[in-house]
Parts: sequence; structure tokens; C-alpha cells
Amino acid sequence: MAVDLLLGLQWGDEGKGKIVDVLTKNYNIIARFQGGPNAGHTLEFDGIKHVLRTIPSGIFHKESINVIGNGVVIDPVVFVSELEGLNKFDIDYKKKLIISRKAHLILPTHRLLDAASEASKGKAKIGSTLKGIGPTYMDKTGRNGLRVGDLELEDFKERYRALADKHEEMISFYKVDIQYDLEELEAEFFAAVKALKELTFIDSEEFLNKSLKENKTILAEGAQGSLLDIDFGTYPFVTSSNTTAAGACTGLGVAPNKIGEVFGIFKAYTTRVGSGPFPTELFDEVGEKMAKIGNEFGAVTGRPRRCGWLDLIALKYAVQVNGVTQLMMMKSDVLSGFETLKVCTAYKYKGETIDHLPYNIEEENVTPIYTELKGWNADLTKMTSADQLPKELTDYIEFLEKELEVPIKIVSVGPDRTQTIHR
Ligand code: IMP
Repeated sequence: MAVDLLLGLQWGDEGKGKIVDVLTKNYNIIARFQGGPNAGHTLEFDGIKHVLRTIPSGIFHKESINVIGNGVVIDPVVFVSELEGLNKFDIDYKKKLIISRKAHLILPTHRLLDAASEASKGKAKIGSTLKGIGPTYMDKTGRNGLRVGDLELEDFKERYRALADKHEEMISFYKVDIQYDLEELEAEFFAAVKALKELTFIDSEEFLNKSLKENKTILAEGAQGSLLDIDFGTYPFVTSSNTTAAGACTGLGVAPNKIGEVFGIFKAYTTRVGSGPFPTELFDEVGEKMAKIGNEFGAVTGRPRRCGWLDLIALKYAVQVNGVTQLMMMKSDVLSGFETLKVCTAYKYKGETIDHLPYNIEEENVTPIYTELKGWNADLTKMTSADQLPKELTDYIEFLEKELEVPIKIVSVGPDRTQTIHR
């Protein structure tokens, strides 16, 4: 048995939550391997819309076990509010949800440090979701972090105090005006820790490898997107974890030879939230139309997402770095009604035409070169099979498949579970 992976190939917000939810019926276990509450995985079914932050998107299926792996960072406060949100769904999360002892904890002071760091950067800010992600991963790699397993130690409070005191000194180093009441934040944190401790903590690498031996099926759920990867993304405008396929091995403790299918998800166009380069970004009414029809606002922060045409150079790069075996195209319905569609198939870079992602893709270095395709004007949202899709959309799909050399197996035509076409 192998672990299948599901990854976002752009700058996040591709619709991973929906597809995990659609695929969960094929898997016994869904496991998150990186990121934290900076993610907002949106699921829609039976007329209900639900946003998950840290909890894997398989939680709504009766049979699935959901694992939060060692590579994830957990904010107990956000996590417990997520659990409370599940109460109305009658989900036995004490049975269905298990957490790696090796996952790192986001402290209230990590969030404050995130805010101080961003404020100190002025115009060069990353556009972080301010959930404490960067400072928590810094403490992890700096070997100072606190882990879920530490909650079981008798001296957890002392360890917490030592780290939080250090953080307070670091906050003052930034010399920015951050207002906070730490006592209040800590009371909230420790109340959440108490609730978190009612869940089951495991050694997730043991659990997952044992499950594989027992022929259980596992789907690893990525968060954010490949272009936000700490190594391969548009650094420094990235998140602080490996969002690409290799991150599933380190974030769950499964070996590379245990990876099976790699499902790559992308939107039929491109969006980005936060700062950083975006070669195909549109600043005109076309981009506005995409944002409006696609309801492009961040699930976590509510910030408007920047929109642009599909960037095949960036997508090819992501397909390569991840070893994608099957593609899934999301939000195809949003592109209905455009007379002509553009797809970036090359860049003009330092006077030359190139077909790969260079080190530096800032606007001043890179100009996209587009191939134009004919648009379609049909309402896709009620379509249920590939043979109902307009010819121009099928041409668009086949063009992408030829360029990317990977089949597009799912075409999403709306946010609901049922609006999913298999090819
Ligand atoms: P952080 O991970 O919150 O520090 O944010 C770093 C960058 O990643 C910012 O540009 C965020 O907007 C972006 N980002 C983080 N998480 C997500 C996500 O789930 N979807 C889209 N963008 C994200």
C-alpha cells in the first residue's frame, strides 16, 4: 500500500479541501503534513459551507481517521474553536482525530512575534496571515520549540514560561508598537490546551507505517501551494514549511518509496493572496471579473485575492518538483463568459524568451508571453459528465494536458461536492 498525496500547485487556495472531501471515500486515513491555521480549507455539501484550518478535510466522513502529522504547527486556541465548529455536525472527533506528539505548538507570543516582524518590514512585508507560522517554524528549526508531546510533561508550564519570556524580549527588539495583554492571551491558551489534551496523541509515523502494513489507504493533504514552499516558492514571499511532495515524507514520517499517486490541484486561472511576484497578474476589469465571479477573498483573513491568467511556466515547475501523476482543474466555471482566454506559455526574461521559472520572477525581470484560446459561454455548474462540457473548454483542457504532460482527471465546476466531473 502507498500514501497518495494531494497538493496545491499554485499560491494556495486551489480548492484542496473540496477535493480531499470528494476523495475521502476512497481512503481510510487522511493526514495533514505541514502548515497550520494559516490554511483555510473550504468544503461545501448539503447547502452548508465549512472552513477547516488545522483539521484534515476528511473529518466529515463517518469512516475516516484524520491525522495531524508532525510537520503541522498547531495553535490550541484556533484548534479548539475548530472543534467547537464541528459540534453541530455530530462528529465523534475524539475517535476520528489523532495528533502527532511531534507537531509543534503555536504560542500566543509566536503570533505577536509574527505581527512585530511584519510591522518592522514596512513595505517589504510578506503579507503573512499573522497566525504565528513563521516564528513557530523558526523555533522548530532553531531547536527551541514546544511540541504537543510536551503537554504531557509535568514541567510544561515552566518550559512555556521560559520560551514566552524569551519571545517578549524578542518582540521589544523589533521596536514596533504592538499592543497586547499577554495575561489574557495566556489564559485563553491554557484553557485551550486543557481541551486539546482530551484528544489522542500518537507517534504518527508509527501509526501510519503500521496502517500501511495493514493495507489501509492513506491520503496526505497538503496546505498552501507549491509556489509558497519555503525552498521552491517565490522566496521570501512564501510560507515557512515545505508545501511540496517531499514535505509529506518529512511531515508524516513515511519514506519516499511509500508515495503513490501525486494529485496536483490548480485553478483554471491564477490567484495569490499576500505580497510577492505574480507575473500574470491582471490589474484591469478582466482580473476584477475573475475576482468577482470566483469570489476571490481569503478564507482565513478575508483579504481580496490578486487574480490573473493561468501561468503554465509556474505550473510546469510545480508539476516537476512534485512529480504530479494526475491533475485536477478547479473553478472552471469562473472562466465561462470570457471571449478569449490567455495562458502564459513563455516568459520574456532579460531580453530572451524562456520556458522555465527563473530565480527572479519580479515584474521588472519577467514579462509573460501568452497563447490565446477561445473562451466558452455555457453555464457549467449543472454539468455532471465530461461529454457535456463545451468544446472550447475541452480544447482548453487538452491544450494544458499536452503542455503539462499529465492527464487532468477532475474538472471542478462549482464549490459543492457534487459539482465535480471525473474524466
Ligand atoms: P504565513 O504562512 O501566514 O506566514 O503567510 C506567508 C504567505 O503565504 C503570505 O503571502 C500568505 O498570504 C500566504 N499564505 C499562507 N497560507 C495560505 C493559504 O492557505 N492560502 C493562500 N495563501 C497562504
